[in-house]
Order: sequence, then C-alpha cells, then structure tokens
Amino acid sequence: MIPAAGRGVRLGPGAPKALRALGGTPMLIHAVRAMAASRGVSLVVVVAPPDGAGEVKSLLDAHALPERTDFLVVPGGETRQESVRLGLDALPPEYDIVLVHDAARPLVPVDTVDAVIDAVREGAPAVVPAVPLADTVKQVEPAAAPGEPEPVVATPERARLRAVQTPQGFDRATLVRAHGTVTDDVTDDASMVERLGLAVVVVPGHEEAFKVTRPLDLVLAEAVLARRRLNDGF
Ligand code: C5P
Repeated sequence: MIPAAGRGVRLGPGAPKALRALGGTPMLIHAVRAMAASRGVSLVVVVAPPDGAGEVKSLLDAHALPERTDFLVVPGGETRQESVRLGLDALPPEYDIVLVHDAARPLVPVDTVDAVIDAVREGAPAVVPAVPLADTVKQVEPAAAPGEPEPVVATPERARLRAVQTPQGFDRATLVRAHGTVTDDVTDDASMVERLGLAVVVVPGHEEAFKVTRPLDLVLAEAVLARRRLNDGF
C-alpha cells in the first residue's frame, strides 16, 4: 500500500508531493514501480489525495506496470494514519501480508522490498528497514517561540539508533489490530505495533530509500536517477 495523500508542504508550493515529477515521471509512479518490481507484490493499493483519486487512477492507467501487478486507488484522509486505515479497509481479503510504503520514497531498491517481505514471511509481525545515523541526535525541550535556543535534554547513544524507512511490512491482522486500537499520533506504522507490545524487527535499509521531503532531496533523487541511467547503459 502506498499512502500518497500528503500535500508535501515542506517541499515548497506546487502539486501534491506524490504527483511531482522526478526525471519526467511522477514520484508516485516511481514508488509504485519500485514496489511492483518485487515478485512478492501482486497488488498495489494507492491512497490518493481525497480530491485526487480520479487523477491518480488515470496516471496509473497511463504508466505500464508488470503483468502480474494489479492496482487499486482509494481516497485518503487528513492524516497519514487515516490514509493507511482507509487503504487497509479497501484491501481484498486474500492478502495476508501488507507493506506500507511512502510515495515520498520513490527510489527504494527492490532488494530492500524483498528483505522486508522475507522477514514477515519468516514470522515477524512487523518489519522495518533502517539505516545507521550519520548525525548525532539530541533530544531537546522544544522552543517556546520560533528561533529561541532550545535546551538539550539527552543524547541517545548513536550506535543504538536507526533511521527508519519504508516499506514497512506487517502481518495483516496485526496491522489491522494496531489501527483499530492505537489512536495516538504516530509517524510510522510500526510504532503502532510496538504499542500493542508486539515485536518489531529491523532489516537493513538502503541509502536510496531516503524520503523526498525538502527541495534538496529532489536534487539528490534526480542525481540517483541519472546514476542509474548511466549504470544501465553499460
Ligand atoms: O508527511 P510525511 O512525509 O510523513 O508523509 C509520508 C507519506 O504519507 C507520504 O507518502 C504522504 O503522501 C503520505 N500521507 C498520506 N495522507 C496524509 C498525509 C501523508 O497518505 N494525510
């Protein structure tokens, strides 16, 4: 499932983030193709902006996917969590494993997708791809007013921290239960499963699975695509 209903305000003004072009192709199409590249993926559910489901459907119709892959488009919600829940509601009953992948991570390599699927198949209720951090992370007391210095509260040991990416993979029943039980605001799906007290495991992520969030990320994404084109040429 690909939640793609975000507006992407941090990227600057313009079309919804998922519909912006990378190498001339909408980011969402890259994300759908990245998921469909895995033999383990036979259906891609795209959660579209609430008023953009028609547009997203036409876009998917216009871009080729592998023969074995079907897709479904459903309108999303106000929050990412709500969008994922709406996607889950629309999922046909025969699928036991669900991957949730940000449209904003268009360049995830197929090996990462496969590693997540394999770990769920081997019995983990929730699996996240992750990478070590380059930066040291500080916990702060957020500033009362913008621009004011923020007191540092703690410095977690960097070697034990991971930056978590998508696709995150789930045993379907677990993810459905998490969405039915956990109402707190979360920034990823796996943390809802953690709140149920269930095990979440990490598999190696990939630097190319970065999230396109700020304008500089678009430059990096174009550079990754250019490098792939060069490598494919040889
Ligand atoms: O905002 P953030 O970068 O965390 O969004 C991650 C993903 O969730 C994006 O692919 C975005 O389109 C999606 N999203 C959504 N519905 C929302 C907000 C975000 O599907 N209401």
